[in-house]
Amino acid sequence: MRTGILTLSDRASKGEYKDRSGPAVKEVLAEWLMPTPEWHYAVLPDERYALEQHLRDYADQKQCSLICTTGGTGPAPRDITPEVTEAVCDKMLPGFGELMRRVSLQVVPTAILSRQTAGIRGSSLIINLPGNPKAIRECLEPVLPAVPDALDLIGAPRIDLNPEKHKTYRPH
Ligand code: MTE
Repeated sequence: MRTGILTLSDRASKGEYKDRSGPAVKEVLAEWLMPTPEWHYAVLPDERYALEQHLRDYADQKQCSLICTTGGTGPAPRDITPEVTEAVCDKMLPGFGELMRRVSLQVVPTAILSRQTAGIRGSSLIINLPGNPKAIRECLEPVLPAVPDALDLIGAPRIDLNPEKHKTYRPH
């Protein structure tokens, strides 16, 4: 199983600071997914073309079953991740964003500012995460129990969850 991680950050993409969010996504996924996936990773500026090209490439050419973006979900003028995600997806899964905002609100009142969402492109599930490295685990862990079934339903390779984290739930 292949997984894509895309960090959206103007400053990290220019090398003004080191990306900590992408590695945080990888850390959580490596703990939760079995077998451990193969990784594709890039740090991009908050620009529509760069993100759209990478999402298409990771889904269609690299055949990543799961693609997590981090950053660019807020209300600032250059935050474009949810719009681009929606533009490349065949189908949206709004429940992911709803749950992630609900759990994040227990942690920060500004969680409602994140427009994060998720959707399907072909046999790939794309999940948006906020850019704050601390937000990654807070948002990803609650939605991961639904991921194996989502991947089964879209024809992606079968994955299991690490039973030390959560029992794999397969209702279908
Ligand atoms: N969610 C969690 N769990 N933890 C956070 O610190 N930060 C919020 C929100 N969601 C946050 C969070 C803030 S302040 C913003 S502006 C939005 O995510 C969008 O962040 P992004 O533009 O970096 O994606």
